[in-house]
Amino acid sequence: MTGPIVVTGGTGTLGRPVVEGLLRSGSTVRVASRRAHPDRDLAYQWAQVDYRSESSTRAAMASADTVVHCANSMRRVLDDQVVRAAVRAEVAHFVYISIVGIDRIPFRYYQNKLATERQLEASGMPYTILRATQFHDLAYQLVAALTKAWIAPLPAGWRVQPVEVGEVADRLVALARQPAAGRVPDFGGPEVRTLPELAASYRSSIGRSPRRVLALPFPGATSAALRHGANLTPDHAVGRVTFEQYLRQEPQ
Ligand SMILES: NC(=O)c1ccc[n+]([C@@H]2O[C@H](COP(=O)([O-])OP(=O)(O)OC[C@H]3O[C@@H](n4cnc5c(N)ncnc54)[C@H](OP(=O)(O)O)[C@@H]3O)[C@@H](O)[C@H]2O)c1
Repeated sequence: MTGPIVVTGGTGTLGRPVVEGLLRSGSTVRVASRRAHPDRDLAYQWAQVDYRSESSTRAAMASADTVVHCANSMRRVLDDQVVRAAVRAEVAHFVYISIVGIDRIPFRYYQNKLATERQLEASGMPYTILRATQFHDLAYQLVAALTKAWIAPLPAGWRVQPVEVGEVADRLVALARQPAAGRVPDFGGPEVRTLPELAASYRSSIGRSPRRVLALPFPGATSAALRHGANLTPDHAVGRVTFEQYLRQEPQ
């Protein structure tokens, strides 16, 4: 490797452990962020970027050997800009974190991610795509929000397979340091869980009894896909940290 490994969204939930892992492995890292350079010495390079701007995205990719795209770009146009800039910079390897089931769940955010996968496949640039299930952090935020009231209104029949973000980060670090591999096997959490189970564990972790659950039959194709388990990958339950172990290790 000659140039740095650029981590977009290197400030985020996933990006932070990816940056730490890459630094531990001895890689030269450049964090791309919309934020200004932090006012302190860093163990990595910093590129302030606005993904709406072609010039700043190109500057962030300049001389990069590899890109690990961890920015949570809510709009498709932002991912498009990142991929096009990486192609122009002739990066040797583009690593993309995607989500299990995005081709089976007609949720707009997922459709945008699927379009980014397709763009990578057609780009001619060497790429690796890893699809993961939801991080424990997201499951935690969901059940914490939905158990605030006396009765917890939980979507009926949805299940999740939450995974420890550090384990996904370790996998991405290993993939970034290997030759491009195309779409690699999915990365799922150790257990498929119902929302009432996770809600009860969360309540217990804060010393409270479980809320009564109101199972809400959410309408629509996205909800139906989730009831059918399109977001799950039980054959790839490779994560080891359970939701309860996560609850014990995270400061609440
Ligand atoms: N969360 C999950 O459960 C989960 C599961 C599987 C896959 N993923 C994927 O993993 C990736 C990272 O997820 P995450 O939970 O770590 O995300 P996150 O913490 O919400 O965001 C990551 C970073 O993205 C950048 N960002 C956010 N909004 C942006 C915008 N509008 N334009 C440009 N940059 C923006 C931010 O960096 P700056 O503020 O520094 O610019 C932020 O630190 C996403 O692609 C997501 O789809 C997430």
